[in-house]
Amino acid sequence: MSNLIIRPFTKSDTQAVRDICADAADRGERVENFYPDRESITDLLCGYYTDYEPQSLFVAQQDGRVVGYIMGCFDNRRYGLAMTWIIIPKALFKAFKRGVFFQQQFWALIAGMLQNWPRLFAWRKESFHSHAGHFHIGIAKDFRGQHIGPKLMEALSTYAKGQHVTSLSASVHDGNISAVKFFEKAKFKIIQRYPMRMYQGGKYVDYQSLLYVKEI
Ligand SMILES: CC(C)(COP(=O)(O)OP(=O)(O)OC[C@H]1O[C@@H](n2cnc3c(N)ncnc32)[C@H](O)[C@@H]1OP(=O)(O)O)[C@@H](O)C(=O)NCCC(=O)NCCS
Repeated sequence: MSNLIIRPFTKSDTQAVRDICADAADRGERVENFYPDRESITDLLCGYYTDYEPQSLFVAQQDGRVVGYIMGCFDNRRYGLAMTWIIIPKALFKAFKRGVFFQQQFWALIAGMLQNWPRLFAWRKESFHSHAGHFHIGIAKDFRGQHIGPKLMEALSTYAKGQHVTSLSASVHDGNISAVKFFEKAKFKIIQRYPMRMYQGGKYVDYQSLLYVKEI
């Protein structure tokens, strides 16, 4: 672990961050477990952070390879506007061009997501005009369990304090055991549990989205 460095993201890290994110999107497993098109869903998952707020993104680099990221958003209003008017429409158009609209898995997933609307707007209710930040974190599979996550967390927290951010939040699937352990250890507290429905493996699966928050 001696060659590990935590550093600010640069544009050339974009593909590495997208790959790690797509490979971890289903509770640490590949996004293809629940969505048929990696490209368009990764635009939704990473697009805001890599393209609109890259200054709040940090990466972990081991022996010259990007092995982890933490991507933050400290302006929820801007996030909402960029997602609603630019990123979601563009991702849907891309999905359409790639034939995703003709796949049953896509429509089943959308039908499930529509039932999750209270969760989808939680960020707005909680923090639209506040100094609250949210983030996503991901470590490449072979590098998990080596305490790279806490180092990325520390880098983001230090940066966030300098930006007058007062709290950080993250959403976690309640079946994501290692992530739950990670957030508990980092002294985050669950402030909300949202019932969610997801189409996966040919059936609807109910779970809870845990909203973890920590004052910084
Ligand atoms: C959650 C995550 C960021 C933690 O980062 P990390 O660098 O692996 O963190 P740590 O090394 O401190 O390990 C945290 C816990 O992960 C678990 N863990 C250990 N080795 C692991 C491995 N090889 N694979 C998966 N989880 C492992 C352990 O439960 C560990 O707790 P412990 O230290 O008490 O044993 C990382 O597992 C990850 O990227 N998961 C996939 C993406 C994700 O779920 N993100 C969170 C939602 S935003």
